[in-house]
Amino acid sequence: MSEPEGKMSEKDGLTYVPLAKAHVPVLLPIEHEAYPDPWTQGMFLQEIRNGASHFFLAFEGEALVAYGGFWLLIDEIHITKLTVAPRHRRRGLGAALMGYLEAHGQQVGGTTVRLEVRESNTAARTLYARGGFQEIGIRNKYYAATGENAVVMVKHLLPHDPGHAHR
Ligand SMILES: CC(C)(COP(=O)(O)OP(=O)(O)OC[C@H]1O[C@@H](n2cnc3c(N)ncnc32)[C@H](O)[C@@H]1OP(=O)(O)O)[C@@H](O)C(=O)NCCC(=O)NCCS
Repeated sequence: MSEPEGKMSEKDGLTYVPLAKAHVPVLLPIEHEAYPDPWTQGMFLQEIRNGASHFFLAFEGEALVAYGGFWLLIDEIHITKLTVAPRHRRRGLGAALMGYLEAHGQQVGGTTVRLEVRESNTAARTLYARGGFQEIGIRNKYYAATGENAVVMVKHLLPHDPGHAHR
């Protein structure tokens, strides 16, 4: 699963690698375990083609421990995915990955981070609130598969925020 050296970056003991086609079969089992409405192979491949998408895998040694990404929409970092492999949860990896996405998003011109999260997803809502996100609204029945509401959360990044606010 190695990638060209120049594309990788290391932070907090994790190696971040941009999503590539070969990763998708490795992601799918984690994705299916993590979500009631998992992304399909085609959706992950679309992220590779989408010029607005910045999508990364986090490796700890050889192990894939987390993945996530965002779309840069003008100056908005719109988080599209944040997933930690089940057996690696509650070790700070979700917070570390969000910190990486924020820092990278800021480097490419983002000033505000925005996301939707399931109303029932206490783990993610707590992580985001602890990381400085504020809940700004509800989207009714946003998730078609389950009819669940989404909570919209926003964080305004400081001009030189190094993205470490979660640690
Ligand atoms: C949400 C998710 C990414 C969190 O990843 P994680 O690596 O376990 O999170 P962290 O270890 O960085 O947790 C940071 C803080 O968030 C909060 N938190 C995380 N998981 C929690 C849980 N299950 N219950 C309550 N609080 C939780 C805690 O405050 C935690 O700090 P603590 O461990 O010191 O108490 C992970 O549970 C996951 O992948 N879930 C399935 C996919 C998903 O729902 N993604 C979010 C979509 S919007």
